[in-house]
Amino acid sequence: MKYERFRKTIGVTLLLLIGGLTACQHPPTSEPDASLYSALGERTGIESIVEDLLYLIVEDERIAFQFKGIDVAHFHKQLSDQICDLSGGPCEYTGREMRESHSAMAVTETQFNALTENLILAMEQNGITTGAQNRLLALLAPLHKAVRGL
Ligand code: HEM
Repeated sequence: MKYERFRKTIGVTLLLLIGGLTACQHPPTSEPDASLYSALGERTGIESIVEDLLYLIVEDERIAFQFKGIDVAHFHKQLSDQICDLSGGPCEYTGREMRESHSAMAVTETQFNALTENLILAMEQNGITTGAQNRLLALLAPLHKAVRGL
């Protein structure tokens, strides 16, 4: 459907746009900045966001099937580590490269956008400010190609 195609394009364009805009406002510095980590509620807050994200994924027929049979505790820890690490927290993501861990899934644009929507919803549920939400999305935007295997 025409509208559906438009919505998909807008979804990924928004994600990439937010990434670009945020990068302009916050040029990379050599000093690690933990303010985003703090705005996400530190480790406990991030774990709560990822837990809520998992509940939303299971309920979302667009992507639930991709997660069937995964080790939920492992996924929860890995994604929490990754977000903690990316947001300037005292964690190190030691999981697989995004291209490798998603290579067998053939993730579509719709599925990528669905996961992004659910992450935004999970952040809303955890009272994360829009500014902090956008900063995290901007850090995740560069992973889009690897997750999609493009
Ligand atoms: C920016 C977006 C994404 C990020 C940051 C992300 C992050 C991650 C991380 C950190 C892992 C764990 C890797 C490991 O175990 O070493 C993972 C695994 C996984 N991701 Fe993603 N992911 C993203 C998008 C997606 C999408 C769109 C889907 C499907 C709709 C998806 C499905 C999965 C599944 C099923 C696993 C488990 C793989 C396994 O255990 O074999 N991910 N992801």
